[in-house]
Amino acid sequence: MTMTADRTPAGTAAPAEDEVYEPVHDSSWALAPEGTDQRVIDWVEKMAHLTTPDTVVWCDGSRREQDELLRLLVSHGTLTRLNAEHRPYSFLARSHPDDVARVEARTFICSEKEEDAGPSNNWHDPADMRETLTPLFDGCMRGRTMYVVPFSMGPLGSPLARLGVQITDSPYVVVSMGIMTRMGSAALRLIGPDTEWVPAMHSVGAPLEPGQEDVPWPCNDTKYITHFPETREIWSYGSAYGGNAILAKKAFALRIASVIARDEGWLAEHMLLLKVTNPRGRVFHVAAAFPSACGKTNFAMLKPTIPGWKVETIGDDIAWLAPGADGKLRAINPEAGIFGVAPGTGPGTNATALESLWGNTIFTNVALRDDGDIWWEGLTDKAPDHLIDWTGKHWTPDSGRPAAHPNSRFTVAASQIPSISDDWEDPRGVVIDAIIFGGRRATNVPLVAEARDWEHGVFVGATVSSERTAAAEGTVGELRRDPFAMLPFCGYNMADYWQHWLDVGAGLRATGGLPRVFQVNWFRKGEDGRYLWPGFGDNGRVLAWILDRVEGKAAAVESPVGWLPAPGAIDLDGADVSDADWQELFRIDPEAHLAEADDAEAFFSGFGDKVPAELRSQLDELRTRMRAAQS
Ligand code: OXD
Ligand code: MN
Repeated sequence: MTMTADRTPAGTAAPAEDEVYEPVHDSSWALAPEGTDQRVIDWVEKMAHLTTPDTVVWCDGSRREQDELLRLLVSHGTLTRLNAEHRPYSFLARSHPDDVARVEARTFICSEKEEDAGPSNNWHDPADMRETLTPLFDGCMRGRTMYVVPFSMGPLGSPLARLGVQITDSPYVVVSMGIMTRMGSAALRLIGPDTEWVPAMHSVGAPLEPGQEDVPWPCNDTKYITHFPETREIWSYGSAYGGNAILAKKAFALRIASVIARDEGWLAEHMLLLKVTNPRGRVFHVAAAFPSACGKTNFAMLKPTIPGWKVETIGDDIAWLAPGADGKLRAINPEAGIFGVAPGTGPGTNATALESLWGNTIFTNVALRDDGDIWWEGLTDKAPDHLIDWTGKHWTPDSGRPAAHPNSRFTVAASQIPSISDDWEDPRGVVIDAIIFGGRRATNVPLVAEARDWEHGVFVGATVSSERTAAAEGTVGELRRDPFAMLPFCGYNMADYWQHWLDVGAGLRATGGLPRVFQVNWFRKGEDGRYLWPGFGDNGRVLAWILDRVEGKAAAVESPVGWLPAPGAIDLDGADVSDADWQELFRIDPEAHLAEADDAEAFFSGFGDKVPAELRSQLDELRTRMRAAQS
């Protein structure tokens, strides 16, 4: 069979007019499902021709297919079946010890112009990157199966959803995509001749010679996670771990989607989504951005200690927000599962997440108990006497090393979260009432403040920072700016992204749909190094004030950083917070804020002329307010 590839996915570099693709094999290859869009078939043919797998499988997303893949993974030693008495239909994967996290230094934005990637991204010339990638992908699936994985980000058919097709040679990635997205035939059927879809090409980069035995976690020391924003393509090579390989998540739903969103007038954000019902029965929806290691999944599954308030989960990592026909800002969670960090998840920090993991879960790089169940640091106060650690070695509490990798994960369907909200799959999206920005700050940032207006809120989002913890590279305590918690995830120039936020706000103001914007900080410390705020369920008290503000029922006092809760406006009944700590949680030290303003200015200057004039004047106004507070 000979096929001429005369149509390509939207924006993909068109093949030469007369280019002809010869399938490497023909009869042994599974045929595309009937009705598959010709552009998808052509792309798959082209990729198969390049990578020369033994077999091509078009994934249908069925339970049966998932079961077959899980059995295959167990037989390859990639997965270990957990004891079904404790964890039915659940599995443990141990990755290669060098393939354990997203590799930001190997993540590239290959826009035509360097300034379109901006200083916060690794830019690489697209033509040059294609030249680098082509020999790597050439024959890289030899001896392996190539899986074609169609998926929808967002409820199938929702006007806010977007479609993609991932090709991968990792069955572990296929089962992960099956949990994290709406994957399979139904998504493929939605791709018609005029539908835009994102091609996402992935290989672990470990071809097999005839007779060569496979390893449980194939990967390659050379890694490239590359994004082509103009042609809306993703090419990822060498890793099977998380965001490097589950390309629907960070690569598509944030990096490529942020570019699509800029062009189409919406927002693709690193935000959790909540539905909150107040004691009077009024329902609100909240989107919140937090940098990594700030308890995002815990906040997404908050059990409020304040009576009468109910918090339900819509999403824990990514939100797509778009102005609706009603002029309001509407949001969906584009994902269908959670890929949560395991260590630190325990009965006291996130009992809801633990309940979600009762079964049907894939754990990666956690420890294995002698009874065939799993364990990680923080799951129980006392560690078991003996474990097999994430590297497969014997472990005891005296081993002097963590049993679970600090970035070990659980992958589970969102529908298994007990607090999942009834509107989490509403195809129209939920109306957003409040947007929250958070960070991990021992100093300066108050427990909560309301931004003066949308523009001030964008300034707050653009200057979000977290103090480095001992676990991260760099000086402990040093500020790491992570604007909108999007630093590793914005697919274009961050300063253009700030302008886009200002523009979307201007549109929403005109239609009466502007949400209110707040900043929170659960991590402020006293001089003795103690956390001043208990956090976790007590964060519900702060959320209650935020939504009472939205309802026009909560008092606030003006301050140089925005509106703070008036005395008594946050219900502290039953919270273990002294008056002195409460005062300290909101103390404003103008000198420290002025020094921080200098740091923000230095950060902005890295973006040169592109920084919106509005943000520079917000910085000036902040300085003016702080100087006034000094006198
Ligand atoms: C994640 C991250 O894994 O933000 O969600 O790194
Ligand atoms: Mn994230």
